[in-house]
Amino acid sequence: NAYWVIVPAAGSGKRMGADKPKQYLPLAGTPLIAHTLDNILQWPGLAGIVVAIAADDQEFEALTAAQDPRVHRVTGGAERADSVLAALDYLSQLADPETSVLVHDAARPLVSRSDIQSLLNASAIALLAQPASDTIKQSRCSNGKTLVNQTLPRQQIWLAQTPQKAPLQLLRRALQRGLEQCPESITDEASALELAGHAPELVSACRSNFKITHPADLMLAEALLQHRQA
Ligand code: C5P
Repeated sequence: NAYWVIVPAAGSGKRMGADKPKQYLPLAGTPLIAHTLDNILQWPGLAGIVVAIAADDQEFEALTAAQDPRVHRVTGGAERADSVLAALDYLSQLADPETSVLVHDAARPLVSRSDIQSLLNASAIALLAQPASDTIKQSRCSNGKTLVNQTLPRQQIWLAQTPQKAPLQLLRRALQRGLEQCPESITDEASALELAGHAPELVSACRSNFKITHPADLMLAEALLQHRQA
């Protein structure tokens, strides 16, 4: 069954402390998002990609992938969820309401083909995630210090990644309602779907599917790319 992919790439990437949005930082000499889009264009059964880019984006059109007829673009919004919603609004003019949509961060260029296959084979509402390897502490503040409030049972803790998969109209309605009701708690697609009463399936991903957030992540990604090409 054909599916669409949405790539939110309208962020400013402030955490990197760089002078350009992080999706355009060079990874092995090519913009990060170029690696991500070239990877997605090889996924089996792909119908197309909708990329949400910033209104003042200067760089997207220069990418090789931007010339591919399967790559569509929309203008993103203020937050990641607004960018995803803009892409879903666009897609609902093109695709069947039941079409499966995979939302994937521009900043995860190294997701493996076998993880994508596992996600495609999973439940209709599912996401890639990493079982926690560190022990997770919940904190509280006391007299200006940060203290452990409690230790969460590690066996049940997963770190949510992308792609996150759901049927088009179901995801669109869940995001619309989530943004109306409590926008601060909608940090990924799954959180909006959970708020709407769904229980997304967690699909365990390889360690290579990390999100490039800090400068050291770029170095690690370059090393992994070199290893794959070797
Ligand atoms: O900042 P963070 O790593 O959480 O961003 C995740 C993804 O969401 C990035 O690819 C970023 O470009 C995108 N984003 C977006 N629109 C925004 C903010 C972030 O498309 N307004």
